[in-house]
Amino acid sequence: MALNTEKCNAWVERDKKVFAPTQHLSYYPMVIKKVDQDVIYDEDDNQYIDFLSSASSLNLGSCNPIITAAVKEQLDNYSQYTIAYTYGRKSIEYAERLTSVYPGGVPAKIVFGNCGSDANDAAVKFARAYTGRSKIITFINAYHGSTYGSISMSMVTTRMRAKMGPMLPDIYCFPFYDVSYDDETCEKECIADIERAFATYLPAEEVAAVIIEPVQGDAGLLAGHPIFMKKLYDLCKKNGILFISEEVQQGFYRTGKFFGIEHYDIIPDGIIMGKSIGAGFPLGGFMAKAEIMDCLPAPAHLFTLGGNATACAAGVAAFDYLQSDEFQKILADNTKLLEECVADLRATFPDVITGRRGIDMSCALVVTKKDENGNDVPDGDGTFKILYRAYERGLLIISLSENILRVQPPLNIRPENLKKGFAILKDSIRDYVNGDIPDSVMEFRAGW
Ligand SMILES: Cc1ncc(COP(=O)(O)O)c(C=O)c1O
Repeated sequence: MALNTEKCNAWVERDKKVFAPTQHLSYYPMVIKKVDQDVIYDEDDNQYIDFLSSASSLNLGSCNPIITAAVKEQLDNYSQYTIAYTYGRKSIEYAERLTSVYPGGVPAKIVFGNCGSDANDAAVKFARAYTGRSKIITFINAYHGSTYGSISMSMVTTRMRAKMGPMLPDIYCFPFYDVSYDDETCEKECIADIERAFATYLPAEEVAAVIIEPVQGDAGLLAGHPIFMKKLYDLCKKNGILFISEEVQQGFYRTGKFFGIEHYDIIPDGIIMGKSIGAGFPLGGFMAKAEIMDCLPAPAHLFTLGGNATACAAGVAAFDYLQSDEFQKILADNTKLLEECVADLRATFPDVITGRRGIDMSCALVVTKKDENGNDVPDGDGTFKILYRAYERGLLIISLSENILRVQPPLNIRPENLKKGFAILKDSIRDYVNGDIPDSVMEFRAGW
């Protein structure tokens, strides 16, 4: 397929000369010129439907008029002024709103930072300070970010950890039980490793917190098994361990509820936020029961630009819209439409798309092929070929964990664009099945 990317290619060459390779996990030379809500334009004026939402950080799309108006209004007053030494109306208003939706109506307080990674660091600091314990439990395939604290809790690829040690000490990692396990196995096994650790080398009374993504994002959108989540929560309660929900990717209605943890009957002791919290602007936050947040004095977790006025103005506008009847109706309709599109795709290609993961608009499609014994095995090359062809046809979609297609469009994507995106995906899978995607596209494969 002939996609003209001449200008994009030239920009990528310039990029390579000045950026460290770790700056991009790139899939194709898409150099962004403009994003109109759910449609992306590259420097060559090619158009793409957005099935990534800037890695779930634009749940309401880019340049959403409501958010743009709020940002403009803020910029007429001031861009930002550090709340390390002053106070700011928008940061206060946003803090009030976010704490008001703490699950279970628990009285909570918040601290703002700059991104999801430092919000994870905050969780570790507060958990350690509040409990007087040092050890933290996380899970295999978790992604928590790139600061030293959050990367120390990330267990998704060794490329994140090689050559950089030592990591933050006292992080212990256990298997994550997702919904693919049957109830019986889960009941029997899911916390057995942790209990064995508690009985042998990891004193439970030294564990400060369990930090868990209810739906593991970069692992390939694996939703925690309800039995696992419940047993883990009970284990925490029994041993005075804080249960902290990591909502950086799944929060802000990505899974249909404000926080992913609300799919489980659990009231967490803390919530880590990032990405869509800033509605397109850099922001992160950690909130927890008030008594936990009161345990550290300034400047234990303080950033010059943390909770900056423009990001909070955007966040307040987005928050209010997310709660509106208008948005909730759009979300319900889009969720239904997405489900129909997924069902249609699976019915059309039952041997290629063999699974659907995630919850609601946090959706992942499993791509497999048959091995010599007729078993379904992950098809990493096929996944890349499909997503590359989708790019050539006008859809931005990426993969996770080798053979998983990540479908996280803006929650308010226009229905015609959601349908168009799936139509492109269908054509791309058909091209793959027909052997119409050349092996040469594999040279672009980098990504996860
Ligand atoms: C679940 C999760 N936690 C934390 C992070 C890190 O957030 P940030 O890149 O904003 O620091 C990410 C980013 O992908 C994420 O998906």
